[in-house]
This record gives sequence, C-alpha cells and structure tokens, in this order.
Amino acid sequence: MSSAAVPPRALRSRAWFDNPDNADMTALYLERYLNFGLSLEELQSGKPIIGIAQTGSDLSPCNRHHLVLAERIREGIRTAGGIALEFPVHPIQETGKRPTAGLDRNLSYLGLVETLYGYPIDGVVLTIGCDKTTPACLMAAATVNIPAIALSVGPMLNGWHKGQRTGSGTIVWKAREMLAAGEIDRAGFIKLVASSAPSTGYCNTMGTATTMNSLTEALGMSLTGSAAIPAPYRDRQQNAYETGLRIVELVEQDIKPSDILTRDAFLNAIVVNSAIGGSTNAPIHLNGLARHMGVELSVDDWQTYGEEVPLLVNLQPAGEYLGEDYYHAGGVPAVVNQLMGQGLIREDALTVSGKTIGEACRGATIEDEAVIRPFDKPLVERAGFVVMRGNLFNSAIMKTSVITKEFRDRYLSDPNDPDAFDGEAVVFDGPEDYHHRIDDPALGITERSVLFMRGAGPIGYPGAAEVVNMRAPDYLIKRGIHQLPCIGDGRQSGTSGSPSILNASPEAAAGGGLALLKTGDRVRVDLRKSRVDVLVTPEEIVARRKALEAAGGYAYPESQTPWQEIQRAIVGQMETGAVLEPAVKYQRIAQT
Ligand code: FES
Ligand code: MG
Repeated sequence: MSSAAVPPRALRSRAWFDNPDNADMTALYLERYLNFGLSLEELQSGKPIIGIAQTGSDLSPCNRHHLVLAERIREGIRTAGGIALEFPVHPIQETGKRPTAGLDRNLSYLGLVETLYGYPIDGVVLTIGCDKTTPACLMAAATVNIPAIALSVGPMLNGWHKGQRTGSGTIVWKAREMLAAGEIDRAGFIKLVASSAPSTGYCNTMGTATTMNSLTEALGMSLTGSAAIPAPYRDRQQNAYETGLRIVELVEQDIKPSDILTRDAFLNAIVVNSAIGGSTNAPIHLNGLARHMGVELSVDDWQTYGEEVPLLVNLQPAGEYLGEDYYHAGGVPAVVNQLMGQGLIREDALTVSGKTIGEACRGATIEDEAVIRPFDKPLVERAGFVVMRGNLFNSAIMKTSVITKEFRDRYLSDPNDPDAFDGEAVVFDGPEDYHHRIDDPALGITERSVLFMRGAGPIGYPGAAEVVNMRAPDYLIKRGIHQLPCIGDGRQSGTSGSPSILNASPEAAAGGGLALLKTGDRVRVDLRKSRVDVLVTPEEIVARRKALEAAGGYAYPESQTPWQEIQRAIVGQMETGAVLEPAVKYQRIAQT
C-alpha cells in the first residue's frame, strides 16, 4: 500500500501546488488550501490529491449515507499516502426532482467535468447510488479521464409489510392498483409504500439504482463484490475504506477510465444486465457513457449480446427478493462466474482492482440458489431487451422477459398469429394529460386498446419522464384487467415490471413518427418481427406530416428554467444516450 517504493510521477496537482515555473500562482493556489489546516509539507510532498465527489446530501436521501462513508474513504486515502479533498456534486434525487431527475444527469455531469478538470485533483472517488448519480459520475470521469473508482452507497435493507417483502418503487405500482381497486385507503397506501424504505441506501429492488451499481461493478469501475453490500452493513464501511486505499494505487499505477471502459467491458455489462433483470434505463446510460469514452456501442448491441442471456437474479420487480438477499446470495461476482462458465464474459477486461474481471470473479459461488439461480436453472430463458422498429420510431426497446401470463393470454394467444396483436391507439401527450383523462369512461378504453405516451422524451418532457408504464383505467382494473400494452417516447422506472415498448427514438418532439399518431388508429405490434406499425397508408403518413409541419411541429410545454432550455437545444435522443451532443468531442481532457 505504501507509495514509498513508487518513483514520483508528475501529478496533475503539482501544476497547482508545486510548480517551479510559476511560483506566484503556486503561492496563490497554496495559501487558500492551507487555511483549513493542510500543511505546506503535505501539499508539496508529492502525495496524490484525491477528490471525493460527494453526491449525498439532505436533498438526495438515497445517497445521503455517503456523508458518513466519506470518513472511511478519507481514512483509506490517508493510509495509502494520499490527501483527500471532498466536494459536492450537483444533487440528483430520482423521486424528488421536478420535472424529472433525468434532466439533471447531464447537468451533474457537466458540473463534475468542470470540477475534475479545473481543480488540483489527481484521482477521484465517485460516490454513486441513486439512479442518475451513477451515470453522471461515470460519464464525467470518462470525459476527464483521470484515475477514478466508484463507491456504491448500497441498497436499503429489505422492506417488510405483514410478513411480505416490500420493494421500494415496485410496491408503489402494486399499491396504486390496490388503491384503485378499493382494497386500501390513502393512509394504507402511504403506510404500505413507506414500509419499503426501512433504512438509508438506494432502492432495494432491481430498479435502475441496483442495476447501475451492479453494472458499474461489471464494467470494472468499482471493487469486485462491492455493488450489492447494503448501505447500513459494516461491510459497506469497510468497502469505503478499501476504495480509499485503492484509488491512491490507481493514481500511482496511472490506471484511468480509458483502461477500464473498453468495448469488452461494455459488452460484459450488457450480458450482466440481462442476467440480473436490469432496468430499461441501462441502455440509455451505458450508451451515453460509451459515447463520452469514445467507445462504439449501439442500441442493437443490447439485443445482439443481451437478448438470449437468461435471468438469474430473483429480485423484484421480475422476481421475489430484495437487496439484502442479493448480497447474501453472492452479488455480482456470483452472477459473473455463472456467465463465465458459459463463455459469455470477456474475461480479460481490466477492473479497478487491478485484476481482470475473470481473475476477480472466477470461483465466486452462489450462496443461495433461490435468489441467484445457476445458469442451467434460470428464472427466464431469454431475459434481454429486444429492439423494436417501425413506422412510428427508429428504435425502442422492450423487456420481453416481464410479459406476464395474463398479458400473453390476452394478446398473444391467437394460434395463427402467436407473436403479434392489433389494437386501437389511445394517445396521451405527456403524463399530465394521461392523469387527467385515463379514468374518464368517455375515452372508451378496452382490453384491445394500446396506450401511447408521447411528449415524454429528452426534449418533450425535459430529461425524459418515467411514465410509459401506464396503469389501466380503474374501470378495467375492477374487471381484472391490470395491464394494457404501453408504448412511448419516455422512459419507465426500473422498478416497474411492465412490458412496455419505450425509449422510442426519435421522440415526438424531435419529429418522430409518434407525433403523427391519432387516437383510434389501428396499431400492430409484432414481437417476432420486432416491429410496431400504425396501420395507415404511406400517403396518409405524408399528409399528416405536412399538416404537423404547417402547424409548427409537435407542441410541448415551455421550459421553466434556464437549464431546461439549454439542455433541450443540445440533447440527443435516447438511443444514442441522450447526451449533450456538443460535449461528446471533449474526450480524455485531463491530458490536454
Ligand atoms: Fe433513489 Fe430509487 S429513488 S435509488
Ligand atoms: Mg396475436
């Protein structure tokens, strides 16, 4: 662990604190960092300055435990011979941020790029957790490309209610249906939902947070075995300490994100995403990360490498269990080891531990086969995403593994046509429109309706709203019809198990075909051909587009903040990561 044996390398921070070519500026830089007690000896000792990118705050409860973990990170950094400087990252809280937390991923990214580039930081610990905090931090580390390691805050403890596990996020969808069906009242609704969040940490389900923290480990950006450790466990504190130790070594060895985030690493993450039953937000975030890293990755790679991988992890919403169970069963290494046994992992991909993923995960055993299944006893045979296309969008994705028996029996039961169904479109323009009208019997929604959500993409509803999984109207739920097919240009929460067709690109607000759809149109969904088409003539489509353009294009609500306007002007579509397009050309900037 000691840095004594390592020859001194030119650290970035020396340009600030120990620059013989610019003594004046060195003095200026130094004096203010001395004012809270750091000594000249420390700052000019050649010790690496390690940033702790702090995403936790009272506004970000999922990541708030990082305020505590930072103490152990610091002790690790100090023990290994580094100096820790902690600083805040723009907060993102998935459930608390209006209009969407998605809006802030790129803002948080931008802020962190400026911080990492513009301050004397040789390496950084990224404190990840709640959904968008993870990609925001990784994307910034990729752009700047200084040594970086991620520390997950860890999931909450399992939620319980009347002897049943209640999973955060997932229970909301169920509780809403119970409320709509009159099985619980409002107080019961709140009590049931709150039971799912019993401790500090992020969502204990396989939502976007557990997904992205697991994939960060699969990418090699966090210590092996770390993603699944629940936030309150002592193991999490120990892992924070080890992460602090390790970042100093990464700086000494000059191992940077570009050494870790290779195409092989991304393909590993795609495979792992299928096996864990990961969120439909993962393609957006990983495709965006790959673009900032300068690695080729397309939405089709998700189907090519992920579709046939089976579901091994039995966590809600696809399964039964929660975060603590996942950890006790072996977490990411146990899953990776199963996949390695089938040759599905590119074993030479390097991880921040300094070992390849093959070396790090080989032999990791499953400790509870009810929670993590062996490869030959999966929960679902083919658990990856299918990329859908058609005359309404260039691409959208669907998690076919979550199609329920009810859904299959209702829509895919025609023996002459078992992979396709036709339905009548009911179109909503944004979530407010949906909430206003969904229960209005005048809409005449039946079990043959297909619900469409548009105006919910990165431009239309800035940041893209998680709204495509639409509950059926109350009057259908009371008749036992819980799920209607849902299609849209928004996202959906990873805690939802709905088999929606979502992330449609381009969105209506960017001129996508969804803008041309009308309520009452017949729509055909063909799973075998991976197509969704509105059944109108090409001439009709041309005529509708002309009319739309004459009307000034698809209308969406005005921006409410400066950032909404700025992001809307420069954000890309979801299939290519919904990144800030002008940012992509800035790569590996710490070297410039
Ligand atoms: Fe933050 Fe789920 S809301 S992790
Ligand atoms: Mg059919």
